[in-house]
Amino acid sequence: MFGLCPFHSEKTPSFSVSPDKQIYHCFGCGKGGGVISFIMEIENLSFPEAVAFLARRANMPLPEQEDTRESKKRSHLLALNRDAARFFYEQLHAPAGERAREYMARRGISKTTATNFGLGCAPDEWSALEKAMREKGYTDYELFDAGLIKKGRNGGWYDTFRDRLVFPVIDVRGNVIGFSGRILGENGPKYLNSPETPVFNKGRNLFALNLAKKSKSGYILLTEGNIDVVSLHQAGFDSAVASLGTSLTAEQARLISRYTDRVVIAYDNDAAGQKAAQRAIAILEKLDLKVRVLQMSGAKDPDEFIRLKGPEAFERLIEGSENQTEYLLAQIAKKYDLKTDAQKLDYLREAEELLARRPSAAEREIYCRRIAAEVGISPQVLIGEVDSRRKRILRRAEKTEGRGSPERGSQPAERQLRYDDPASAVAEEGVIRLLYLEPELASSPRLPAPEEFSSPELGHIYAALLRRLREGKAVTADVLGGELESAEVSQLVSILQRPEALASSSRALDDYINRIRERRRAKEQGLDPMQIYQQRKKELENT
Ligand code: CTP
Ligand code: MN
Repeated sequence: MFGLCPFHSEKTPSFSVSPDKQIYHCFGCGKGGGVISFIMEIENLSFPEAVAFLARRANMPLPEQEDTRESKKRSHLLALNRDAARFFYEQLHAPAGERAREYMARRGISKTTATNFGLGCAPDEWSALEKAMREKGYTDYELFDAGLIKKGRNGGWYDTFRDRLVFPVIDVRGNVIGFSGRILGENGPKYLNSPETPVFNKGRNLFALNLAKKSKSGYILLTEGNIDVVSLHQAGFDSAVASLGTSLTAEQARLISRYTDRVVIAYDNDAAGQKAAQRAIAILEKLDLKVRVLQMSGAKDPDEFIRLKGPEAFERLIEGSENQTEYLLAQIAKKYDLKTDAQKLDYLREAEELLARRPSAAEREIYCRRIAAEVGISPQVLIGEVDSRRKRILRRAEKTEGRGSPERGSQPAERQLRYDDPASAVAEEGVIRLLYLEPELASSPRLPAPEEFSSPELGHIYAALLRRLREGKAVTADVLGGELESAEVSQLVSILQRPEALASSSRALDDYINRIRERRRAKEQGLDPMQIYQQRKKELENT
C-alpha cells in the first residue's frame, strides 16, 4: 500500500506499507522499519517506551522486564538530575541565593512563578554542586555524564553552572532532563545549556512544554527566551514555550503538533528574530500547523512588552496577529518603496512567488486582490500570473519527486551508506535478506562470520540477525529495532524491499557466500576488483 510519507514532505506517495512483511519503507527519504520503529520515530520515544506505548493502546499487559543497562543508566541520570535541581532550588532560598533573588526581583519574577518553574540558583563557587552531590553518593563520573561538572586544566573538576539563575528543563513526562542557566554576574556567556547527554537533546525538547501542554488556550506560544516564557506564564499566558537556544527544529515542531494545531510565534523584534520566524513558519507549515505571528512594537521581546504595556495589550497582540501569509507578505513589502514603479514590480515578483506556493486557491485569490489594490493593478492580471507560476512550480516539483518514486523502481533517494565494495555489499545484503526470509538457513555451516563482510554496517545488522536466529528467536524488523540504530533498521527494511527468489534459496545463499569470500580474497591479494569481476563473469557465461 502506498501513501504520503509522514517523515518528509511530498506530493506523490512514496511511502509503502507491506502488511505481509509487517514493515514500512519510504522510497523517497529511505526511512523504514516495523510498527515499533514507526512509533519510535513519530512519537519520539525510545524502544522500550514505544513498546509500552503500543501495549497500552492494545490493552496488553507489559511483561515485567529486566531493565536493560541502558534504561538503568537513563533512570539513574534522571534521578541525579532531579537531585541537582533540588540542590539549585534550595540554594535559591539559602544565603548563597541572594544575588539570584535580587535579580528575580529586578526582572519581576515572583516567588510563586519561581516555584512553578522550579527555578534555582547555582552559587558563585567552583564546586558547590559537586560537593553536595557527592555527599548524596553520586560519583564525579556520573556528574560528568550529566554535564554538570567539567574537567579543568589541572585535572580537577569544577561545576558547569556557576553564578547563574538555573532553569531546569523538564520533559513532557515530568523528568528533569537538563538545565539552562542565565548569568548573574559578568563572567561567561549569557546562557549556558546542558550538553548532549543520554537524556538531553536540545533540538528535541522545548523549555516549559511540560507546563504548556496543560494549557486550555488552544495554541502554543513560541518564544525565543527562557525569561520570555517565565514572564508570559506569570502574566497568564500559560502556553508559552521556548526552543533552547536553537532555531526551531522539525522534531520540536512534531512535539508541538502532538498537543495543538495552532502556533503563535512571538519572537524578538529584531532582524534575527524575524528571520527565525520565517524559518519557523516553513517548518511548522510542513506539519499542517496553523501559524500566526505577533508583531510587537515598542519592545524588544515579549518579556519587555508585558512589563511596559501589560498583559491586556499582549492579549490584543495575539488577537490581532497576522496569519503566516499576511506576515510573510508584510515582510516582503517592507523591503520595497512602493511609490516607484520599478520597485513595485520587484515587490510583485517576490509576492507572486510566495503566493504561488500557497496551497489554498481561495487564499491565493484573497491576497492577490489585496496586493493588486495596493499597487494599483487589476486583480485578474495578478491572479493569472500567480496561477501560471504555480503551474510551473508544480511541474518542476513533479519532475524531481518522480526520480525517487516507486513506479520507477529506483533506489531510495538518500542512502546513508556508501559501500567500499559494492559488489560484495550486494552479496552481503543478499545473505541478510535470505536469512530474514528463510530463518532455517541460519543452520548452514558455511555462513560467514560478520567480520568477513566488507561493510561494517551490514556486518552489524547481520550479526544481530544471526544471534537471534541461533537463539531460536523470531526476527522481525521490530524486534531487531531493539538492537539496531534506527538508520540500520531503515537499511534492513530497504534491503528486504529488493526481490529474492526463494525457490532455490540454499543455492542462492551459497552463491552469495562465494561472492563475499572471493571479493575478500581478491582484496587480500591486492587484485583489481574489476578484473576479478570480469573474469568471474566469463566463467559464469561459460558454464
Ligand atoms: N541563548 C543561549 N546562549 C546564549 C544566549 C542565548 O542558549 N549565549 C538562548 C537561551 O535559551 C535564551 C534564548 O537563547 O533564553 C534567547 O536569548 P536572549 O533573548 O538573549 O535571552 P532572554 O532569555 O530573553 O534573556 P534576557 O531577557 O535577560 O535578555
Ligand atoms: Mn530576549
